[in-house]
Amino acid sequence: MTALARRLGIELPIIQAPMAGSQGSALAIAVSNAGGLGSLPCAAWGPDAIRNELTAIRVATTKPFNVNFFCHVQPPQEADREARWKAALTPYYQEFGIDPASIAPGPGRMPFDAAAAAMLEEFRPPVVSFHFGLPSAELLVRVKATGAFVLSSATTVNEAEWLEAHGADAIIAQGSEAGGHRGIFLSQDLSTQMGTLALVPQIVKRVGIPVIAAGGIADASGVSAALQLGALAVQVGTSYLLCPEATTSAVHRAALSSPQAGHTELTNVFTGRPARGIVNRLMRELGPLSAEAPSFPLATSAILPLRAKAEAAHSGDFSPLWCGQNPTGCKAVPAGQVTRALAGLPI
Ligand SMILES: Cc1cc2nc3c(=O)[nH]c(=O)nc-3n(C[C@H](O)[C@H](O)[C@H](O)COP(=O)(O)O)c2cc1C
Repeated sequence: MTALARRLGIELPIIQAPMAGSQGSALAIAVSNAGGLGSLPCAAWGPDAIRNELTAIRVATTKPFNVNFFCHVQPPQEADREARWKAALTPYYQEFGIDPASIAPGPGRMPFDAAAAAMLEEFRPPVVSFHFGLPSAELLVRVKATGAFVLSSATTVNEAEWLEAHGADAIIAQGSEAGGHRGIFLSQDLSTQMGTLALVPQIVKRVGIPVIAAGGIADASGVSAALQLGALAVQVGTSYLLCPEATTSAVHRAALSSPQAGHTELTNVFTGRPARGIVNRLMRELGPLSAEAPSFPLATSAILPLRAKAEAAHSGDFSPLWCGQNPTGCKAVPAGQVTRALAGLPI
C-alpha cells in the first residue's frame, strides 16, 4: 500500500496500462476486481463504443478504474505525403491484390474532445489518464470538475515538469522499454528518451506530485525496484497481453509467445508516431522509422487493408505487434493472477 494507492482507492499499487486495440472493459474489470486499477483505452473508439464499455464496467465492478484518451493535435490532411506513403506501399498492395484507390483516408485515432468530456461528466470515472500531453485548459477544467484524478505520461523530466505545471495530479514516467506509443509530446527528438531506471528517479526529484513507473516492469521484483526508485505505483501493459480477458489478436499472441518477442524497435510505420513493437516485415522493409510516413494518426489507414489480408492468412507481417522490451511477464492466465503476481501475492 502506498499513499497514491490509498488516494486512488486501490489495494495494490498496480495500474493495468490502457492498451487501445488490445482490450476492452473485460480486462479493466478483472484487474480492478483483483485490487489493482483497471484501465479502459478510448483512443480508437467512437462515442457509442465508449458508452457501451463504460456501462459494462459500471455493471461489473464498484472498484475504481481509469479511462484513457489520447490528446494529440489532429493534423490537416497531407495529400502529398499520403500519396508518397501509398507509393512506398504499392508493391505490397500489388502482392495482396489491393486497389490503393479503394482505401479511404481516416483519422485512425481521435483526440480527446468535448463529446468525450461529456461522457466523463455522465459516467464520472474516478481516474482519467492522457497520453501525448493534456487536453486544452478548458477541457481539462471539465475533467477535473467531475472529481477525476488526472494522470498523464511523461517521457522526459521536461515533460513531467510541464504536466505538473499544467494540472496533472500524478505523472506516469514512461521509460523507453515500454510497449506501444511513446507518450512524447514536447519534442520529436527520440534521443531524449531514456530507460525507466534513469527516468523515474530524475522525475521523482523534480516534481512534487506522485510518480508512476512504466516500461519493462514484468514481475514483483520489477515493481519493488520501481517503488525503491521513488515511484508510488507502476503501470504495466505488455504482461497483460496474453490474458484471456484481453482482445489481443491471434497473430499478436503468437508473436508474443515466440522468440520474436525478444526483438522490438520503435517504429512510426503503423500510425505515424513512434511506438515500440515486435520487429516484423513492414518494420524491417520500410522502417522502423520512415520519413515518408504521414503524421499521426494519418499513417494508419494505408496499412489497414494490408494488415487485414495478412492476418486472414495468419501472418503478422503488417500488424502493429506492440510489445515492451520485457515480455517475460506475458502468460495466458487470468488478469487477476497477473495483478497478484506483480504485487508479490500468492496467486
Ligand atoms: C499493446 C499496447 C497498447 C498501448 N496502448 C496505449 C493506450 O491506448 N494509451 C496509453 O496511454 N498507453 C498505451 N500503451 C502504453 C502503456 O500505457 C505503457 O506505457 C506501457 O505498456 C508500459 O510498458 P510495458 O508494456 O513494458 O509494461 C500501450 C502499450 C501496449 C503494450
